Amino acid sequence: MNQHRFCVAPMLDVSDRHFRFFARQLTRGARLYTEMVTTGALLHGPRERLLAFDDAERPVALQLGGSEPGDLARAAQLGAAAGYDEIDLNCGCPSPRVQRGAFGACLMREPALVADCVRAMRDAVSIPVTVKHRIGVDREESYGFVRDFVGVVAEAGCEVFVVHARNAWLDGLSPKENRSLPPLRYPVVARLARDFPSLVFVLNGGLRSHGEALAQLDRVHGVMIGREACENPWMLADVDPLYFDRPAPCAARDDAIDAMRPYLQRQVRAGEPLRAVVRPLLGLFNGLPGARAWRRTLSDAAMLERHGAGVLDIARGEIRA
Ligand SMILES: Cc1cc2nc3c(=O)[nH]c(=O)nc-3n(C[C@H](O)[C@H](O)[C@H](O)COP(=O)(O)O)c2cc1C
Repeated sequence: MNQHRFCVAPMLDVSDRHFRFFARQLTRGARLYTEMVTTGALLHGPRERLLAFDDAERPVALQLGGSEPGDLARAAQLGAAAGYDEIDLNCGCPSPRVQRGAFGACLMREPALVADCVRAMRDAVSIPVTVKHRIGVDREESYGFVRDFVGVVAEAGCEVFVVHARNAWLDGLSPKENRSLPPLRYPVVARLARDFPSLVFVLNGGLRSHGEALAQLDRVHGVMIGREACENPWMLADVDPLYFDRPAPCAARDDAIDAMRPYLQRQVRAGEPLRAVVRPLLGLFNGLPGARAWRRTLSDAAMLERHGAGVLDIARGEIRA
């Protein structure tokens, strides 16, 4: 079975462990990705906290940011030892801070270095090492650029490429603008899939519905969705029937709330801020009457303080009222 048929994107400040646990209540088949963790933070920072996750989230990939093969190898080892199912190297992030660290999207200009990084990580761990990248940087739009990048990195043993199907414009755009302004070019990813038939290509960028995503699966092996899964998480409840030919774990939003209740209680007992644990649920009713009341209650500090984990039921009651 293709393990990357449907993936939920790595998103800084979004795809944290609570988001992933919630996503996992809605789909068993999707592959989940952590936020990007830099090698510096992992090797010299609060390692345990950065790597902590619940076994129920699996399969989950740890995304690393870095460009020094030795550091990446050690970081990958820590990830594998912690139980992650995949190590993904970020070669697509355009933020100026990441560029100063000389990793992220600017690594696409250095395929030999990325190959060294992949080789070092593969030598260090037995779980798959994957690469997430763009189709070009700045105004470099030739197909040859991304084809050669993939070719060189594949030589080092990378078999799965997650391709955000737009260029990264490193000269002056914010990361947010870089997720919408450079034009999407899905045919480039389809062409890569044709030209490298033994590799797996996951298409990412701008997919807002299952109709759009499923239509791509004729041409690529998998799809990855970011913002839509965060803004409208209930869309994940359709993933298992549509992509994996198995029943959805939650037939209704209330099933998802039921599934989250014990987790909330557990996390609060463990000292996690309730606000962080409920945040992934804010969009659960988006598009339905009551969505605003739900969101307002779950983001109200006084309500969280007063009701603790019971705030879920208070918020649910307000929708019914
Ligand atoms: C808030 C936010 C944070 C992101 N953080 C990361 C990250 O840590 N690593 C990464 O590779 N991509 C990151 N991305 C990019 C997404 O993984 C994805 O490539 C991009 O949003 C396009 O997919 P979408 O149109 O389905 O959202 C982030 C995107 C968003 C919206």
